[in-house]
Amino acid sequence: MNEVSAYVAEGEQDAEATVRPKRLAEFIAQHRVRDQLDLLLRGAMGRGTPPDHILLSGPPGLGKTTLANIVAAELGSGIRVTSGPAIERSGDLAAILTSLATGDVLFIDEIHRIAKPAEELLYSAMEDFRVDVVVGKGPGATAIPLDVEPFTLVGATTRSGLLTGPMRDRFGFVAHLDFYAAADLEQLLHRSARILGVPITDEGAVEIAGRSRGTPRIANRLLRRVRDYAEVRADGMVTLATAREALKVYDVDALGLDRLDRAVLRALVDSFKGGPVGLSTLAVAVGEQPDTVEEVCEPFLVRAGLLARTPRGRVATDAAWQHLGRALPAGRISAPNAPADLFASDQRFP
Ligand SMILES: Nc1ncnc2c1ncn2[C@@H]1O[C@H](COP(=O)(O)OP(=O)(O)O)[C@@H](O)[C@H]1O
Ligand SMILES: [Mg+2]
Repeated sequence: MNEVSAYVAEGEQDAEATVRPKRLAEFIAQHRVRDQLDLLLRGAMGRGTPPDHILLSGPPGLGKTTLANIVAAELGSGIRVTSGPAIERSGDLAAILTSLATGDVLFIDEIHRIAKPAEELLYSAMEDFRVDVVVGKGPGATAIPLDVEPFTLVGATTRSGLLTGPMRDRFGFVAHLDFYAAADLEQLLHRSARILGVPITDEGAVEIAGRSRGTPRIANRLLRRVRDYAEVRADGMVTLATAREALKVYDVDALGLDRLDRAVLRALVDSFKGGPVGLSTLAVAVGEQPDTVEEVCEPFLVRAGLLARTPRGRVATDAAWQHLGRALPAGRISAPNAPADLFASDQRFP
């Protein structure tokens, strides 16, 4: 990364940080989750004890990290942030746990990626607020029990289906974040535009919201791209016209699908005649990691009714052909959307 783009990236992250809601009341939509969290936090504060451990699951960009920070802010406690892949040895985790102050929030992002020994250490910390740290090797090894101050673990995962049973059972509160309705994203865009000082019309917000894949992070990102366009090629106002032109430049289509989403659909429709095809084969065809295809692209493609996950593999729905502007192949047995229970984002299919 050269200096200029490093500078730009930093500016973008600042913009991201300024629009990130700090308190529960500013968190848009997700009313059920908000309500439940509100009760959980108030109940615990009333009793003067740290609340139960909290698990947040859902596709990327829907507000898990934001909520973790909000939990700490509402409780008025400190927050320590780490992630599953960052905890390689259980000693790393023990060091973090034993340094927590009473009532602190420990946020572990991508918690399904935590290494097994660290996960086991976490069990005893979550349940009994103690950890056994093993010192030495072989027959001379001894376990030293250490106390952990009462804390609240907030775990976030894009794949709660990959969590082990014992892990999931230790969370007293589990919330699943779902894609946002367009109306909620419009509200979010108006809020972000106000904070960033970007003038935006209602039609401009509607247009961007409709192409944000139901995802706040994408809505905010598209707002920044349209702002660039409006400032450079127009009078700075985000309108229906500037939004449309800008999103054309950035290759975001009418449903908000980006290049990778469309590549997945095209591969499915053109190379595999609509499927069924296995996840790894599909991922190879678009030159991506299976995890990326599964966690980043598929949840929205499924939600948009373009792709279905079935036990035999991925299949394109009729809407996929239509969206790509292709005629349905002659003799195709139409595949309407798969039944809803096959859509559960946590289920893992081949
Ligand atoms: N409910 C919400 N209200 C307002 N902004 C939100 C909301 N959820 C997410 N955002 C915005 O979207 C961005 C991405 O959210 P984040 O919490 O990082 O998602 P995740 O951790 O689930 O990937 C945040 O910076 C925040 O500005
Ligand atoms: Mg996050």
